[in-house]
Amino acid sequence: FVTNPLLRTGYHFQPPKNWINDPNGPLYYKGWYHLFYQYNPRGADWVNTLWAHSVSRDLINWNLLGLALEPSIRPDKYGVWSGSATILLDGTPVLVYTGINRQDIPYQVQNIAIPKNKSDPLLREWVKPDYNPIIVPESGMNVTQFRDPSTAWHIDGQWRILVGGEKGSQGQAYVYRSTDFKHWVRAKHPLHSAINGMWECLDFFPVLMQGKKGLDTYEHSARVKYVLKSSLEKARYDYYTIGTYDNRTESYVPDDLNGDYHRLRYDYGKFYASKTFFDPAKQSRVLVGWANESDTVPDDIAKGWSGIHAIPRKIWLDPGGKQLVQWPIEEVEQLRRKSVSVTNKVVKPGDHFEVKGLETYQADVEVTFKIRSLERAEPFDQAFSDDAQKLCRMKGADKKGGVGPFGLWVLASANLEEKTVVFFRIFKDGHGKPVILMCTDPTMSSLGRDLDKPTYAGFVNADISSSGQISLRSLIDHSVVESFGAGGRTCIISRVYPSIAIGKNAHLHVFNNGDVDIKVSRLTAWEMESSKMNNSV
Ligand code: FRU
Repeated sequence: FVTNPLLRTGYHFQPPKNWINDPNGPLYYKGWYHLFYQYNPRGADWVNTLWAHSVSRDLINWNLLGLALEPSIRPDKYGVWSGSATILLDGTPVLVYTGINRQDIPYQVQNIAIPKNKSDPLLREWVKPDYNPIIVPESGMNVTQFRDPSTAWHIDGQWRILVGGEKGSQGQAYVYRSTDFKHWVRAKHPLHSAINGMWECLDFFPVLMQGKKGLDTYEHSARVKYVLKSSLEKARYDYYTIGTYDNRTESYVPDDLNGDYHRLRYDYGKFYASKTFFDPAKQSRVLVGWANESDTVPDDIAKGWSGIHAIPRKIWLDPGGKQLVQWPIEEVEQLRRKSVSVTNKVVKPGDHFEVKGLETYQADVEVTFKIRSLERAEPFDQAFSDDAQKLCRMKGADKKGGVGPFGLWVLASANLEEKTVVFFRIFKDGHGKPVILMCTDPTMSSLGRDLDKPTYAGFVNADISSSGQISLRSLIDHSVVESFGAGGRTCIISRVYPSIAIGKNAHLHVFNNGDVDIKVSRLTAWEMESSKMNNSV
């Protein structure tokens, strides 16, 4: 099974060919957004990764610049792995990344690169100073699990940076400090650690307690909370906690002391090794993340490409302070073209209707559902309170429910042998309080073989009792379904490879498989124009 070339994305970032993984060092400089990414220049599998470089005016249309960091010095001779960008106090951007300096084992050290010419807004050339490496593992550390430096932050005359590690089975957020950005000394204790295995691609940043405005990493005050995100190497997902940071003791404590086990996620789908950066032009914090393929490595090699990035998302702290909220950056809306709307349409139990009059293989769909009563909601079994995914596997899109499942069939073939289902299903706990489950069920997405089609799910912390409404937005892009429930409180991106529902053969429906009427108060679907993805500058 080799995917059809029509399944390449139209507006989700990917280079012209070959393998990509983590976004690296996103930054804004002199009017340009810079995105670097782990890239294999020789093929569509994960080997020999280094940093490729694209630039953009809006984070949606991209120009390809080529390679930014290749193995060239002893401390990165065998690999240029992930890292982050920091804007120094005088405005100079620097990149700190992991270098592999041995052939026999992936021995990891941290290196720095600085722009060759600061007046070039495109930052085309990077120089690796001869004082590299700047951080090496100490004896007793796991030298093959010591990587992915974070963006540094500056408080009271000192820089701090995090390096992820593993000690025993504990994930470690090692803190290093410096006054000159050259000489770094490890703080005695890690910023935080927990029994979660290797912590890849750590991200640590402040968020305002109220409002959507983003903060730069050095904006430290009593009115901010901090977010610590780790990418779990074994579980393959990104989770975060929200907490407080004390820069004197160099420690971070999650507000939810069990947060390392509850594991709030940016995204409950295929979303990994993400990273945020502060966008000074928009005064917002923006999240970028990698979504890998769901087919096999031989299929990737045959099709010649693997990996895409999610649409950049603006993120902020929910007013309740217990989770983040995410929304696709508004620039993606420039791509909206022809649209179709449906208003006040009732969908009876067991019914569905097609949204006609536009192509939906590359689309943006926003819908608000109105639920008259939660009386018929199924009872919620507390045994699933930490396992939305299991609940959704058991109660898939085709299992009849009480309130729901209702939602969208996207990338559906004319006869519905293929469809990806994005839906809500509402339960009621022992106190009569609604519990909202959001799922993406790709089990029917393709008749193709050898595809990984896990059902993805998360709970949605939204107030449905008083509003009687819940919203859903799905960005559909050939082989991507990226969904935002309840205004971005729960997000799920998945990769699917229809064999029939491709191009003009892809349809969009609204369905209700519950026991009570659901009203579509408003649905608007837009065809999306392709973004410029790999233009030259
Ligand atoms: C995460 C990761 C990083 C590493 C990079 C190598 O996907 O494993 O920890 O630096 O990819 O490509």
